[in-house]
Amino acid sequence: MAHVSDLIATDIDAYLAEQESKSFMRLITCGSVDDGKSTLIGRLLYDAKMIFDDQLTALEADSKRVGTTGDQIDLALLVDGLAAEREQGITIDVAYRFFSTDKRKFIIADTPGHEQYTRNMATGASTAELAIILIDARKGVLTQTKRHSYIVSLLGIRHVVLAINKMDLVDYSQERFEQISQEYMTFARELGFADITAIPISALEGKNILEPSPVMPWYSGPSLMKHLETIDVAQEQTRKDFRMPVQWVNRPDLDFRGFSGTIAAGQVSVGDELVALPGGRTSKVKSIVTFDGELDTAICEQAITLTLEDEIDISRGDTLATSKARPEVSSSLAADILWMDEHEMVLHRPYLIRLENNTIPGNLSRINYKVNINNLEQESAEVLTLNEVARCELSLTEDIAFDPYDDTRSTGCFVIIDRITNKTVGCGMLRHSLDNATNVHWHALDLDKASRAKAKEQKPAVLWFTGLSGSGKSTIANLVEKKLFARGNHTYTLDGDNVRHGLNKDLGFTAEDRIENIRRISEVANLMSDAGLITLSCFISPFREDREQARQLCGSNSFIEIFIDTPFEECEKRDPKGLYKKARKGQIKHFTGLDSPYEAPENPDIHIKTTEKSPEKIAGEIVDFLDREGFLTT
Ligand code: ADX
Repeated sequence: MAHVSDLIATDIDAYLAEQESKSFMRLITCGSVDDGKSTLIGRLLYDAKMIFDDQLTALEADSKRVGTTGDQIDLALLVDGLAAEREQGITIDVAYRFFSTDKRKFIIADTPGHEQYTRNMATGASTAELAIILIDARKGVLTQTKRHSYIVSLLGIRHVVLAINKMDLVDYSQERFEQISQEYMTFARELGFADITAIPISALEGKNILEPSPVMPWYSGPSLMKHLETIDVAQEQTRKDFRMPVQWVNRPDLDFRGFSGTIAAGQVSVGDELVALPGGRTSKVKSIVTFDGELDTAICEQAITLTLEDEIDISRGDTLATSKARPEVSSSLAADILWMDEHEMVLHRPYLIRLENNTIPGNLSRINYKVNINNLEQESAEVLTLNEVARCELSLTEDIAFDPYDDTRSTGCFVIIDRITNKTVGCGMLRHSLDNATNVHWHALDLDKASRAKAKEQKPAVLWFTGLSGSGKSTIANLVEKKLFARGNHTYTLDGDNVRHGLNKDLGFTAEDRIENIRRISEVANLMSDAGLITLSCFISPFREDREQARQLCGSNSFIEIFIDTPFEECEKRDPKGLYKKARKGQIKHFTGLDSPYEAPENPDIHIKTTEKSPEKIAGEIVDFLDREGFLTT
């Protein structure tokens, strides 16, 4: 088994060739802090002779100092490399370890074992083919064991080793081993693993790790290492169709336009017809450029730059795919979510959803069910708390191209980011589109926003006026629109009072209703933009977050936030509709500025203090701004 081959000294080329030809497996270890995970990994590295002499010397010294294993060396110290971990006795970050034997090379991801998940469990697991689920023989199958197993199954890992550890502490009892493996097999039956192999081990004592141990004569299966070396983990069903998320549009000069990225699935050759999604335009591959020159064909995981025969509009975050087998395109998706934050997940709250090279605002619009980890039953839920797993509906503000996670892991998984703290709060796997017309692929219309705008000889824009009630939004917008109209521009004004009589007549003034009010208005403004219009939208829109959402939806290049900054006292003095008076008397509830908040823009594109200038002058300045920025002509 000794890994360190004599060839290193005698024939380094032969050694390297031998390494290249070995098969390769990625695995993860899952277990609780005390199950002995770090010790097991340390043991695998130690027994595979992957430890250098100087590391060993340091380890011996550390083992004496930390002193948890008596006179023996503490193999966990090898893995728990961080000082903080050593002191607390826990593993706090994901670590990738490489080891190899005569038969195979391995990358092992050591994932955090305490209840407090981090994104690393999912990151570590998303490329793995096999999971070692560790159990402390004294404790048996815990809730956490079940949770790990469920997540492992969601992540599409099909091979499981149930490593029942610390057998030395239960007198190497066959009965205990069988009891635990029975219980686990019953639980895991529904999880759809291809195989589960239970192995009794003692990582500390090195029993059944390399060789079958005589202290457990009743066990006739393979040692852990033997099993890892021989199990067949060839990926059964990974997608072979070409997929490449575009990471960067490479445009060094006017003559060259290439799309760079790493191939996520399949292969691509010069002459292949590709489709750019979500847009839907097609073109053929003109050349495949790499750091080492041009290629005829490139394969999965290669980093390449593609040039195409036609000029089509592709940007970062788009996906290039073979036109013969296209990814699905949707903004409404079913996904399995693992919630990883102490703060609970709130339905409809805007989060950022990060897929491959793409970050898109979105929210979870429904929890179909959450999974009771102990019995795998589906339960209804309104919120998700730390470590809970659920099938949810994900709504994005834009269409994305994706493959179901089970077909292509890299284009089917995502993380959820909190917009304020920037923390990863969840991760998920995409299952299918929720659009009725799932397999009707978006066909790029010949008449698009650009051609409609061109016909109108202007650049579409959304002028987003925000400010208190009575601040002057509608008055100023009205003057701006008249000026634009006079210049021959094509415009439309969306106004709070008007829209609330029609489209939004079902909405009131609670925070929830205002959020929905602005969401709908943003969608309408975006449609108007698509029609090529300059849209003026006048709503209090009191929440920063919602205005930001509107900006994201309409595209930040054409979204102009105009803060109509009139102090509350001044608005109250003007009180054009007599509402302030009523609100003061308590006849109107949730009145902005009184008993409902207004979050002023921190960084508006245009900041207007209405007490300093006349509305006419202000309107003139806004038109000048649009002129300067090139919106008024094409
Ligand atoms: S928003 O907060 O949801 O953006 P919107 O701009 O649509 O509000 O509507 C605001 C208009 O509704 C005000 O100009 C005012 O005429 C009227 N209104 C009625 N009740 C309220 C209230 N409680 N707070 C603010 N405006 C109100």
